[in-house]
Amino acid sequence: MSKGLEDVVAGTSAITFIDGVRGRLIYAGYDISDLAEHSSYEEVAYLLWHLRLPKPGEFESFAADLRSAGGLPLGVLEGIDDLELECDTMDALEMAIAALGIYDDPRLDTLGKAASIASKIGTIVPYIHAHKTGAKHHEPRKDLSFASNLLYLLNGREPDAFSEKLMNVLLVLHADHELNASTFTARVVASTLSDMYSSVNAAIAALKGPLHGGANERVVEMVERIGSPEGVPRFLAEKFANKEKIMGFGHRVYKTLDPRARILRGYAGRIAATRAERNDLAILDRLADEMVKQKNIYPNVDFYSGFVLHHLGVPTYLFTPFFAVGRTPGWLAHIMEQYSNNRIIRPIAEYTGPRDERYVPIGLRGGSITP
Ligand code: ACO
Repeated sequence: MSKGLEDVVAGTSAITFIDGVRGRLIYAGYDISDLAEHSSYEEVAYLLWHLRLPKPGEFESFAADLRSAGGLPLGVLEGIDDLELECDTMDALEMAIAALGIYDDPRLDTLGKAASIASKIGTIVPYIHAHKTGAKHHEPRKDLSFASNLLYLLNGREPDAFSEKLMNVLLVLHADHELNASTFTARVVASTLSDMYSSVNAAIAALKGPLHGGANERVVEMVERIGSPEGVPRFLAEKFANKEKIMGFGHRVYKTLDPRARILRGYAGRIAATRAERNDLAILDRLADEMVKQKNIYPNVDFYSGFVLHHLGVPTYLFTPFFAVGRTPGWLAHIMEQYSNNRIIRPIAEYTGPRDERYVPIGLRGGSITP
């Protein structure tokens, strides 16, 4: 028995490899640094689903399919329109993906459904934002890349080339991460031969938690609370005294710096332009230095991602939904891999309760409590 299934090999997969000691992340043979620098969301989605990079003709038709599938069924739009304005954005996303399953096009094959889900989640998240803020909703544009379209739907204007690049980097870095909690959840649900929408939705539910994708929002709150780099030692001392976790640090698999955090720190340094951004980055850096020095615990992907998302105009309450948009190609790759070689995932528990109790009728159980 391994608490939290640490180091348990729960299956085989050809999608993603993590070397937690050397801090390497590899999608179907390609190092994440190489992909983040040279590739795009569309190309990485193809790589994860086909386990090879697309050839020129294949890329254009795959990207065109993805970019043209972003329109939402009326029922999904109306479902979001009916939500309370204060609703939690991850709850709203779960509702919308469930509704998407209800309006599923039965003519689509598995890859067609995957393209449809990946594309539509990129419309759903900005639509939830438009609903909550009263901002104008824009129709997805087929002439824009997935990354550009996401920012266009969110901010109402086409991003410049560098912002598009930055969004692509974020999406590529988040695209997959082996058997993390949400992906494992998706595979468990897929292993019952449940549908792709339900499997993705289960993954979204797992991602929501603060120990997983919900950590990025908490990092920003923590930076706001600390206020200045000088406030870091006191903040950490209090947290350690209360035995509380520091959000954005630690990882089950990496024993060194998460390569995604390293890449995002590089971009954070390039984009920190305003005084407020430079102050926030100085707080993040001080936190990282102190945590490594005092605890030998390193930043994970959630540590710098919020900083980059803020720079792109993404509000804090959309950080985890944006993580979900980025991770959807990975979830779908794992769901399809599970379907292709399936056996229901059903481990066993080490039972720790009693075995020989005798049933006593309720009236004879004593110790009654008068209401
Ligand atoms: N802050 C302070 N101490 C930490 C942290 C942290 N963020 N992470 C781990 N530790 C310490 C633990 O207290 C523990 O110390 P101990 O052995 O003295 O008790 C030791 O390091 C091992 O930690 P575990 O919690 O057992 O590690 P586990 O592999 O179970 O958890 C997790 C990994 C959930 C990521 C954990 O590091 C954590 O809670 N981090 C904060 C939340 C976070 O940033 N989550 C995002 C992860 S990345 C992602 O999902 C996208």
